[in-house]
Amino acid sequence: MSATDGVAPFRAVVIGGSGQIGGWLLRVLAERGHAAVGTYASTPFPGLHALDASHREQAAAWVREQHPDVVFYPAGFTWVDGCERDPERAYAANLHEPLNLARAAAELGARFVYFSTDYVFDGHDGPYDEHALPHPLSVYGKAKLEAEQALERELGPRALVARTSWVFGPERQGKNFAYQLARTLSAGQELVCPSDQISSPSYGPDVARAAVLLAEAGESGLIHVVGPEVVDRVTFARRIATALGLDPDLIKGIPTASLAQGAPRPLSGGLLSPRLDAWHPGLMKSLDEALADFQARLRDPLLKGELKPIL
Ligand SMILES: NC(=O)c1ccc[n+]([C@@H]2O[C@H](COP(=O)([O-])OP(=O)(O)OC[C@H]3O[C@@H](n4cnc5c(N)ncnc54)[C@H](OP(=O)(O)O)[C@@H]3O)[C@@H](O)[C@H]2O)c1
Repeated sequence: MSATDGVAPFRAVVIGGSGQIGGWLLRVLAERGHAAVGTYASTPFPGLHALDASHREQAAAWVREQHPDVVFYPAGFTWVDGCERDPERAYAANLHEPLNLARAAAELGARFVYFSTDYVFDGHDGPYDEHALPHPLSVYGKAKLEAEQALERELGPRALVARTSWVFGPERQGKNFAYQLARTLSAGQELVCPSDQISSPSYGPDVARAAVLLAEAGESGLIHVVGPEVVDRVTFARRIATALGLDPDLIKGIPTASLAQGAPRPLSGGLLSPRLDAWHPGLMKSLDEALADFQARLRDPLLKGELKPIL
């Protein structure tokens, strides 16, 4: 299936095109024949438009000018400990600013795709499916949950909320966990990880592809978009290290309680994705396949230079 074989091409805006998921959204949208324009806030890349969602009127006016059919919002204040310290900014960036642009999209009759998290759960008994009752522990999780609810209330079937977690893979800024791990281990340093945090590693290119396919199909409501395995952080780190030819013995696990992280974390977290699995079985790669793809993409001459090398 592609936009050229049966799916009507649409006009898309990607707020946060300079980020991990946003970068892949732009690539997938272009590959599938859609017209897409992306934005950056502080890290410019060629072709991206400067947009700060906190300048609400200006940002909404720009979105209106694009006449999009779909607005993707893989943006916000994503630093969980920072959100705990600065709740005002956390709510502005993760709730009020996306809602402002969702309203602008709705006025145009466009759809809005928001990215949420398993931090909407308390992690007492995960992994969770879409029917599980949320109970966030952190400011980040609370703001994300309020955004989910506000979008459903205000946009109804025009809103799609994709919850994901532990997103990793090749990206232009090289910020995600796999890059941090590679930098630490290749310097011969130990990497300390929480031994008791469990979640669903999710491969960035797959998360983006799923979001685009869901938008093409006009799907709405809440959907979990995650990799198929639920693992603890130490296992995840060691599997990345092994795949990248780095020393997994440099990874040490310690309990979350000893880490002094600013925000409380869900421990037995992670997401189940029955809706996505039924809709498009096999869309999300296994962790091993994702890690193999990660390396292949970094070597791909067409992508090399666009993606941050891992080492
Ligand atoms: N990564 C994960 O593991 C994970 C897990 C669950 C949910 N999510 C959600 O998925 C979404 C995307 O995550 P990600 O990992 O791709 O994030 P990311 O790599 O940190 O990218 C965030 C994007 O937001 C942009 N941005 C920041 N402040 C902005 C502002 N004031 N106005 C407009 N844009 C702004 C950034 O632009 P600049 O970089 O140019 O400043 C960047 O393009 C987020 O909503 C996040 O909460 C992520």
